[in-house]
Amino acid sequence: MRLKHCNNFQDFRKLAKKKLPSPIFHYIDGAAEDETTYERNTSAYNDVDLIPNVLRGVENIDLSTTIFGKKLDLPFYCSPTALQRLFHYDGERAVAKAAEKYNTMFGLSTIGTVPIEELSKVDTPKMFQFYYHKDHGINNAVLERVKESNFDVIALTVDTITSGNRERDLKTGFTSPPKLTLGSLYSFMSKPIWGLNYVLREKFELPLLKDSVPQLSNVSTSIGQYFSTMLDQSMNWKDAEKLASDWGKHFALKGVVSVEDAKRAVDIGCTGIIVSNHGGRQLDGQVANFDVLSEIVDAVGDKIDVICEGGIQRSTHMLKALSVGAKAVAGGRLYLYALAAAGQAGVEKALGLYKTALERDMKLMGCKNISELSRENLRFR
Ligand code: LAC
Repeated sequence: MRLKHCNNFQDFRKLAKKKLPSPIFHYIDGAAEDETTYERNTSAYNDVDLIPNVLRGVENIDLSTTIFGKKLDLPFYCSPTALQRLFHYDGERAVAKAAEKYNTMFGLSTIGTVPIEELSKVDTPKMFQFYYHKDHGINNAVLERVKESNFDVIALTVDTITSGNRERDLKTGFTSPPKLTLGSLYSFMSKPIWGLNYVLREKFELPLLKDSVPQLSNVSTSIGQYFSTMLDQSMNWKDAEKLASDWGKHFALKGVVSVEDAKRAVDIGCTGIIVSNHGGRQLDGQVANFDVLSEIVDAVGDKIDVICEGGIQRSTHMLKALSVGAKAVAGGRLYLYALAAAGQAGVEKALGLYKTALERDMKLMGCKNISELSRENLRFR
């Protein structure tokens, strides 16, 4: 199987599985415990049916949307995700350039693997995902570097106060940087091209953390250990409010699923929220994002940008979330398998496929632009 044979999410997933050592593939592919939330994030979309309208003159479709004060040509973007150079040697660089091609947003994580100064030059809207450390000196230093770059919005991660129980990672022994163990030796040996790239390309490290946190760049650490030992479990609304005001530009909480929290996010000065359960990777059994989207849109959708993140595998999933009232949708695995499959060309192909599919769906729905999508187009079973 090659890139030219990839026509949908599952095809990219299969190709990624072929290219990556299994601990790395399962780090992307896995979620918490029984993975029920992960599964529900996608299957929730099947509980709603689309009701198209006809005879509406749909030859020209406009997919643009405006979030965080920036116009995107597409109503979907690439969520920030960690450690992207483990998935493909170009990592965030490849994703950013693909996003730029389509004028949509990409995200950089605090746990990113390409320097923020380099990504700052990419001419497309940019989101920075902030992880809030116990050591507030790290937070201040990271914030300074984000301020010096021209990122448009900070999304503070609020759903990783401790690590989720990711049993696939426990089983494979996944760490960053990767560690060869007796158990994982075969899986790394069997992907020599990945191994050569890892050894011969620029050194793998986390440019924002390497000087203050040896873990993840130099000392092999699991994401679980990092979350549970380095992040600040005392983080509260006051801290979020202070960060929003220290930053002073567009600010979102990433990982909100309750109406109460959504309202409070408005009160502390957020300009958006990302309705998300971290791809089902944290609290298994937590409600799926799409299942709470309508109540959150009803509560705060007229005040701040509501984004629906996770579980999207098809353009019809996007269509349903946008019809409920999300201003945009986003995902990690949405482009990560494509990144692993073929770098920038892979991500470009994935974004292009979703764009073409969404245009087709809009025509079939009888809607010319995103604002014409509404709950009138949906029937909940
Ligand atoms: C994860 C983090 C790092 O889910 O976003 O692994």
